[in-house]
Order: sequence, then structure tokens, then C-alpha cells
Amino acid sequence: MKKILITGGAGFIGSHLADELLNNGYHLRIIDNLNPQVHGYIDKPPHYLSKDAEFIYGDVRNPQIVNSALKGIDAVFHLAAAVGVGQSMYEIEKYTSNNSLGTAVLCQCIIDNHQDISKFIVASSMSIYGEGQYINNNHQIVGNAKRTLEQLKKYIWEPFDTDGTPLQPIPTNENKQPDLTSIYALTKYDQERMCIIMGNAYNIPTVALRFFNVYGTRQSLSNPYTGVLAIFASRLLNGNTPLVFEDGNQKRDFINVKDIARACRLVLENPITRDKIYNIGSGNCYTIKEIAELLSSVLNKNIEPVITRKYRVGDIRHCFADIRHANSELGFSPQINLEQGLTELSQWLAEQISTDEFEKASQQLIQRGLTI
Ligand SMILES: NC(=O)c1ccc[n+]([C@@H]2O[C@H](COP(=O)([O-])OP(=O)(O)OC[C@H]3O[C@@H](n4cnc5c(N)ncnc54)[C@H](O)[C@@H]3O)[C@@H](O)[C@H]2O)c1
Repeated sequence: MKKILITGGAGFIGSHLADELLNNGYHLRIIDNLNPQVHGYIDKPPHYLSKDAEFIYGDVRNPQIVNSALKGIDAVFHLAAAVGVGQSMYEIEKYTSNNSLGTAVLCQCIIDNHQDISKFIVASSMSIYGEGQYINNNHQIVGNAKRTLEQLKKYIWEPFDTDGTPLQPIPTNENKQPDLTSIYALTKYDQERMCIIMGNAYNIPTVALRFFNVYGTRQSLSNPYTGVLAIFASRLLNGNTPLVFEDGNQKRDFINVKDIARACRLVLENPITRDKIYNIGSGNCYTIKEIAELLSSVLNKNIEPVITRKYRVGDIRHCFADIRHANSELGFSPQINLEQGLTELSQWLAEQISTDEFEKASQQLIQRGLTI
């Protein structure tokens, strides 16, 4: 039986991955610093985290703790990160330190003392793509679509081709060149590349998984910077309207956290995966407005979203996943559709109390000129 380390294992995705691995016979150790923005102020692991996982309270930037966490470990999932696009634009040091430095310390400990690990898997993000892929009128793929500030100020939301003709969004594949539009994205790319470069140099099978929009139970409802469904849920539970940026027709790919956890296990168990990058999404897309309406409906709230017609600096228009690579090489296909996932989420939400911190977070962006 293999012993697995999950960094950030007390978080949303990490705790579901912990369940998935424990249910499949793995031994588990978790290291997590219980970031108060995610967990509130707690001095022991969150109640939902399985007691069968060994828990180490600690920061991935601390080499002593990381070295002891790595002892006797066969494979590592690196999930620990500060997560939030908007906040990363004004807490640059915090994001760079947690994500880039945290990954550097982990990699350093691995090469110094633990090169015998059989697999290293890092959580990357769709945010590294910037705008997704599009197709133009001549049926050519456009991988560098951009929107100008001038057009956004005129409420023209869709990107155009260089000749001014409209572009159609298509599923984004792993070959699209990254286009980093936020500090968060920069640090996720940093994490991805650092792990893969290290893995190649030291012959450690290393895989980066680019997660799309993950939703499900246990996502922090008090963190106003991450997870659009969790943010909308927190608004609705407090009787507030979900606020939707732009015109609400921007498209994203929502994948249930249990499918993410299964994809992670498939990578762990797949012998051919080394120096690989996979999109992990649902392969479907929904507009943000649709998502707000669907959530309101499953929660039996008669609250319509408000379309703000505001643009957040760094936001992209459309991005949803082409998952054919994960499907053909890992045998991954999502098993939980959005309807099933939202039903389960609504049952969990019914038992939750949340503080709606969205207005406060929104003010931070406005004060800094990061919302137009
Ligand atoms: N949730 C999504 O939609 C999504 C999408 C793409 C990628 N990701 C990535 O997946 C990973 C997990 O995200 P999540 O949604 O579960 O977030 P989360 O905030 O719920 O979990 C992150 C966990 O990491 C811990 N952590 C943060 N900094 C740490 C540090 N320096 N040392 C030790 N622990 C630390 C936090 O306490 C938290 O428990 C992250 O790397 C994130 O960038 C998430």
C-alpha cells in the first residue's frame, strides 16, 4: 500500500482527494497551514477531514516541516496554494510567497532528501490560459484573442479577430500558449513549470493537472475570492443577489470536485504519466448568468442575479476545456453532471451558515481601480 502526501489537503479539493485515496486503500498524510481566509480561525483540522489521514499542521514554506512530512512517502500531490484571481492583484507578495516560494521549498526538499518518490502531481489551473481558444471566420484557430480596454469601456464584451470579424469560442486544449493575466495565474504557471523542470532533471515522474472551475461540497463559503458557485451560494444564503460581471454571457467549464479527485487518482495509478499536462474539466460550458440562475433555483430562492456590466481587470471572456487528452491517456471522463452536482451541493448548503464577504472584497477591487 502506498503512502501519499497531499499538501493543502485540508482544503476543498484536498479533502475530497483524501477521501478518494483512503477509499481506494492508500495511506495518507496531509500538510496544511489551515489558512484562516479558507477555514476561519481553527486550531485543528476541519471536521470534514477524514480522521484516517495523518495530519501535520504546517506551512509548505518551512523546510523542516516539509522534510519530515516527506519521510516514507511514495507520491506527492501538491495542492497548497493561495487561491483567488482578484485578490492576487493586490496581495502580490502573499500569492508569490505561498505559491511560488512554497513550491520551491517543496521541490528543494524533494531533490535534497526524497528523490525516490514515484510520482509528483501538481495542481495547476485553467487560469494560465488567459482567454480560451477561438475560431475565426476562416475556420482558423485563434489562440491569442484579446479584448481592449477601449472596447470594454463601451460594454463590448466579445473578443474580435484582427480584421474586426467575430470570434467563436471553442474548447481549449493543452497546446494553447499560456497568457498570464493575473498574479495568481503567474504563480500557478510558476508552480507547474517548476515541478515539471525539477521532475525532468531528476527523473521523477511529474504531472501537472490544469483544473477548470471546480465546485462542490466543502468549498469555503467565507472566502470571497474563489469559486464563483461558492460566492453565489454565500450571497443567496444571506438573501443577497448574486452579482454577475460583464453581461453574464461569459462561458466557463464547471467540474464537480469528486470528478477532480477521481482524475487525480487516475494519474497516480497510470504508469505512463510523466512530464505530462492534462486539462481536467467537464468538457461542457455554461454562462455565468445561467449558473447563477440554476443555483438560485436549486436553492429554492426567488432571487435573480444582477448584471453589473462591470469588468474586473484580468478577467477573460470564455474558457472551457477540451478534455480529450485526459480521456485518451488516463481514461478520464466526468461522471457527475451539473444537475446532479448542484442537487448535492444544495443539500449541503442547506446545513451551512456563511458570512457574505463579497461586498468587502469587491470594495477592495474598486478602491484599487481593478473594476471598470
Ligand atoms: N477550486 C478551483 O476551482 C481550482 C481551480 C484550478 C486550480 N485549483 C488549484 O487547486 C488547489 C486546491 O484548491 P482549493 O480550491 O482546494 O483551495 P482551498 O483554499 O480550499 O485549499 C487550499 C489549501 O491549502 C492550504 N494552504 C494554503 N497555503 C498554504 C501553505 N503555504 N502551506 C500549507 N498549506 C497551505 C489552505 O489552508 C487550504 O486548506 C490549489 O492549488 C488551486 O490553485 C483550484
